[in-house]
Amino acid sequence: MDKRVCHILYTTKRPEVVFAKGDAMRLWDTNGKEYLDFVGGWAVCALGHSPKVLVDAIQNQAATLINASPAFFNVPMLEFADALCNAIGKDKVFFMSTGAEANESAIKLARKFGQKEKGGAYKIITTLGAFHGRTLATMSATGKPQWEPLFAPKVPGFTHVPLNNIDAMRGAIDAQTCAVMIELIQGEGGVNECTHDYVKALRQLCDENNILLIIDEVQTGIGRTGHLLATELYNVSADIITLGKGIGGGVPLSAMCCNSELDIFEPGDQGGTYTAQPLVMAAGLAVLNAVNTPAFLAHVREMGAYLKQRLQEIGLSNVRGQGLLIAGDIEGRAQDIVQTLFEQGIILNAPNPNSIRFIPPLIVERSHIDAVIDAIRPFV
Ligand SMILES: Cc1ncc(COP(=O)(O)O)c(C=O)c1O
Repeated sequence: MDKRVCHILYTTKRPEVVFAKGDAMRLWDTNGKEYLDFVGGWAVCALGHSPKVLVDAIQNQAATLINASPAFFNVPMLEFADALCNAIGKDKVFFMSTGAEANESAIKLARKFGQKEKGGAYKIITTLGAFHGRTLATMSATGKPQWEPLFAPKVPGFTHVPLNNIDAMRGAIDAQTCAVMIELIQGEGGVNECTHDYVKALRQLCDENNILLIIDEVQTGIGRTGHLLATELYNVSADIITLGKGIGGGVPLSAMCCNSELDIFEPGDQGGTYTAQPLVMAAGLAVLNAVNTPAFLAHVREMGAYLKQRLQEIGLSNVRGQGLLIAGDIEGRAQDIVQTLFEQGIILNAPNPNSIRFIPPLIVERSHIDAVIDAIRPFV
């Protein structure tokens, strides 16, 4: 093992390999071993590893302007903001680097709304099993029971209710509530889908109570479900949408989007050194242009349907998800199987001991899916 790993602060258990190169659906480690990647940078590398459009965009922008300062507008910032807002039907966007920052920003905007419009309302209701990030506020928002005792005291003002239970949501709302924050499909929680009826009722509940609906599309957004956004799949309009992961195709980019009525921050309320940094703006535009075509999104839906069908054929239980955000269950053995397959050169993820998750780059083809199916079959 490379001795220099000793300098990396221990925050997660990593296998004893070091990755050196990527191309499309493949990664190679420093020993030259090849891997078929069905995790894709954790649902990030939408166009695969080092795709030409992204490399070209970053190279061209690097040679033109890397950083102009967050205090100024820059050309790729305006180009990407215009393209993104038009594509998703929102008026305004604030750019950052990570999904957690996008959600932190949404939390701040919701509290600002509460201060201005609802007599200081500050509480946000989220769902059990949700994942919203690892800053203190987004960890507090996250509905992971095992995080409950961590880093006390948590940021106050978050209530967690069971997913798909509209009565529990209704019961949690009080005069201090300013927003509800949900993932339409919980990704890290194990690919748990909201029902369409629940989402419809939730929108109505938010309207009746004048509270904001924040939809965290960090994992589901920018083509992952076979639609540009999962809100299209659910035919729901969010007051605030957060995006991350796939939006940058592998570079650190996230966004919080809303309409003009919520353009209520005042100077100093929100910002950041790397907001709308030209290099990542150019990357975001290149990814959006590639993903947001009917043919590309149809490919995601087709590959997702094929993957689901093949997983069902080999007998994986409870196959679920949309587009290329898919999971199935293998009672208690998921982590062992993922580890064994990794040794065989196939990268998958187990979000919990019972589930295997499939979040490949959106450019995946049938032949890659067949290879993964052949590898999993003996374990099912
Ligand atoms: C739905 C969702 N929200 C937020 C986050 C946090 O994003 P990041 O790790 O980029 O901060 C994630 C990461 O997995 C996520 O899946």
